[in-house]
Amino acid sequence: MDHKIKNIISIHDFSTKEINYILSVSQEVYKNPDKYTDLLKGKIIATLFFEPSTRTKMSFETATKKLGGNTIGFEDIQTTAIKKGETFSDTIKIVSGYSDLIIMRTKIEGAARFASEITDKPIINAGDGTNQHPTQTMLDLFTIKQKIGKLDDISIGFFGDLKYGRTVHSLVEAISLYNPKIIKFISSPEFTIGKEYLKILDSKKIKYEILDTPIGNLKDLDILYVTRTQLERIAEPIDIEKLKKKYTITKELLDNENNPNLFVMHPLPRVYEIDKNVDDSKYNLYFKQAENGVYVREAILLILLGLI
Ligand code: CP
Repeated sequence: MDHKIKNIISIHDFSTKEINYILSVSQEVYKNPDKYTDLLKGKIIATLFFEPSTRTKMSFETATKKLGGNTIGFEDIQTTAIKKGETFSDTIKIVSGYSDLIIMRTKIEGAARFASEITDKPIINAGDGTNQHPTQTMLDLFTIKQKIGKLDDISIGFFGDLKYGRTVHSLVEAISLYNPKIIKFISSPEFTIGKEYLKILDSKKIKYEILDTPIGNLKDLDILYVTRTQLERIAEPIDIEKLKKKYTITKELLDNENNPNLFVMHPLPRVYEIDKNVDDSKYNLYFKQAENGVYVREAILLILLGLI
C-alpha cells in the first residue's frame, strides 16, 4: 500500500487499489478462518451505536472475538452520560482512552469524520445518517466478487429507497471505480437516486438508467441490490401499501424476467421489499452477504490496527 489505511469513514476516501487490498485480505481471512485467532489479543474495540443495528454491531463483535480481542460499547444512549449532557466530542475523547479502535453509527452525517479529527484512534463509520456505510460496501463488493468472479464490467440494478439508503450511496460510489457496464436505478419517483451520485457517474461516462418499475428491467442484470424504505429518515407521510404493491420483489417476478444469472442482494433488514418466497430460490444472495460481513470486518480490523 502507498499509505496506511487509518480510518474507514467514506468510500470517497479510497482508491480502487486500496479497496482491492481490503478485499484480498478479506478473502485470505475467509479461506483461512483459523489462522488469525489471536492477533487481537489484548485489544479493546469500542462499538458506539447511537442508532439501532443487528448485523453491523454483531458482526464486528463476532469479528473481534474470532480474532481474540474484546469489545466495549453501548447501543442505547439512554444508558450513557450523553443523557446527562455530555457532548459527543467528550464521549469520543473518553472512549479513546479506553479502546484501541472505535466503531460508530450515528444519525448525523459527518459525525464519524468529525470523530476522526479529534482522536488518534482508528475510526470506523458504521453508518452516518443517509450518507455512507462503507464497511457494508466492502462486504457487498466482496460478495459480488465471490459470486460472479469480478467487479469490473458488471450490470447492477439498485431497487427501493435510493434517496435515503446510505448503503446504496456508498455502493454506487464504489462500483463506479470498477467501470460497470450499466447501472439501473429502479424506484418510486419520490425515492430516486440523488443528482450528486449521477454526477459522479456522468464524470466517468458510466451508463445508467432511471426506471420506475422492475418489470422487464432485470433481464440483463448480474445483481439486483434491494433496499428497504428508510421510514425513520422520512418526515412526510408514506403510503406503504401502495409502495408494497409495485415495489416488492417476488420469485414470480424474478422468474418472469427469465434471467437465470441474476442474484438478489440486500443489506438487510428486509421489511416487505423482498418476498419471503425468494429466500429459498437460486436468486438469494442476501443471507450469504450478511455472513460475509464477519470475514470482511475481521480483515478491516486487522488492517486498521496494522496487524496484517
Ligand atoms: N446492513 C446493516 O447495516 O444492518 P444493521 O442495521 O442490522 O447493522
